[in-house]
Amino acid sequence: MEMTEHAPEIKRMEIEVIKSAVSRVNDVDFDNIPFGKIFSDHMFVVDFLDNEWMQPTIMPYGTLEMSPAISALHYGQAIFEGMKAYKGADGIVRIFRPFDNIKRMNKSAKRMCMAQIPESLFIDGLTQLVSMDSAWVPTQDGCSLYIRPVMFATTAEIKVKTADQFKFVILTCPVGPYYPHPVKVVIEEHYSRAAEGGVGYVKAAGNYGASLYPAKLAQEKGFDQLLWTDAKDHRYIEESGTMNVMFILGDKLVTPSLEGNTILSGITRDSVLRLAKELDIEIEERRILVEEIIDGFKTGLLKEAFGTGTAATVAPIELISYDGVDYKLPPIDSNSISSVLLKTLTDIRVGKTADTHDWMHSIG
Ligand code: COI
Repeated sequence: MEMTEHAPEIKRMEIEVIKSAVSRVNDVDFDNIPFGKIFSDHMFVVDFLDNEWMQPTIMPYGTLEMSPAISALHYGQAIFEGMKAYKGADGIVRIFRPFDNIKRMNKSAKRMCMAQIPESLFIDGLTQLVSMDSAWVPTQDGCSLYIRPVMFATTAEIKVKTADQFKFVILTCPVGPYYPHPVKVVIEEHYSRAAEGGVGYVKAAGNYGASLYPAKLAQEKGFDQLLWTDAKDHRYIEESGTMNVMFILGDKLVTPSLEGNTILSGITRDSVLRLAKELDIEIEERRILVEEIIDGFKTGLLKEAFGTGTAATVAPIELISYDGVDYKLPPIDSNSISSVLLKTLTDIRVGKTADTHDWMHSIG
């Protein structure tokens, strides 16, 4: 199969719709939504077979029947995205930057030798799915509809080779905050998330699988997440387990640059950097030595640290542990830069302030 960088557009196919007999939406306690455990009524499913995309279908959320020989299970050809839809006081449902997610998903597909997904297939499936389940989009503060597009190889063959059959599915779930409280992280000095030449810059499922054991060790010690460092020397900060990371050093916002292709190029990261620039905050995207952060604690130059991600949104970090010492950050308030950035972003997402960046994709 030929792997092109740009997904060939296909003739737009009408999506087949099989509606669930009864909606489960009234069973959900929207004031207490756990993250990622409750799925909306429907899902979008489409197969890539014989070198082309087949009939796309929206069907009731449920199990999928598959061979235990599918190569995703054996050799890890699986990629995903994380996105969110918001419902504003005006009742309009808006999806945040979906065109950036399909671009990144195809970048992941290229690196993982998987079929490219035509933008129209992604956007049409997504839009129709979210529109059908719009009653599932929460309106509570800090809540949204999390959208999980996932593609995995379904060729049932044990030989290690590029699969030629794939399944692309979109699931949605109403969610509350991923981190309901400020996060405690520990700087990882032994295990690695990604090395140069690897797949750290794409959303390969295996990146997350490989991170679970070191994250578990950290969680057993009371931390929420790791702060990953470079695989070579463990001297430079890269990203946190589920989010990119940013620091306020003096009056500058400093974040690891994407150079070297070991860090995920977060869409929330990009949005926050653009908003910060508009707020006249000086930005530095560069390599960050662990010692610089620790010195920042000691001298008082380090004012804030926070993560950015679709699930995490803008998540303040309250403690960074390094070499057995816990460094506690000053508490944040509504004037903290992370709070201002989160509010600015949220107001755009729920339609409270103008979407001057054209980030929001409204569902009619
Ligand atoms: C996201 O932020 O959407 C992610 O995909 C990170 C994590 C929840 C797996």
